[in-house]
Amino acid sequence: MQIRIDGGLNMKNKSISTQLIVQGLFTVLLISFGPVLAVPVDGTTEGFRDEINRTPEPYNGPPRSGAQVYAFRCEACHARATQGAPIPGDEIDWGTRAQQGMKVLMEHVKKGYKRGLMPARGGCVNCSDSELRAAVIYMLEKSNVKSGALTVDGN
Ligand code: HEC
Repeated sequence: MQIRIDGGLNMKNKSISTQLIVQGLFTVLLISFGPVLAVPVDGTTEGFRDEINRTPEPYNGPPRSGAQVYAFRCEACHARATQGAPIPGDEIDWGTRAQQGMKVLMEHVKKGYKRGLMPARGGCVNCSDSELRAAVIYMLEKSNVKSGALTVDGN
């Protein structure tokens, strides 16, 4: 009888401590990997920002077209209006922004705009100025804003 009770208690203790260990491990895992698991699913750009903050590979190939630069970096935000990024094709939004002139638009692209909502160089650190300008012209033309109407050379 005595042995059976002891055995029973030991078993109970064991299962309690196993439970505590599992809970402890779970807590440790949650603290370690919680931030990684907290992947934004609401269209925010946190993950993308991590990617664009990485030191980029230098690019030595031929100059990329506006469409290529757009697809490479700008599209991630501009195709979905992320954080208010103007969508190519939105004639009113792009038309209004274009009134600032190409020089101002390019300043905003190169330095970043609205406290980094639009990141410096649109996140394409290895893009040349003329590649970035080609991407801006690409978006303007998609929006029926004739870049010729802007002071393209005023960059
Ligand atoms: C991380 C998201 C993001 C990426 C990537 C991005 N943009 Fe933007 N961009 C924005 C947002 C947001 C705005 C609007 C900011 C505002 O006016 O509130 C914007 C605005 C702009 C504007 C208008 C600026 C003005 O003066 O009104 C231009 C031009 C532009 N982006 C070009 C680019 C180009 C070119 C690329 C790619 C090389 C690019 N963007 C990549 C988020 C982004």
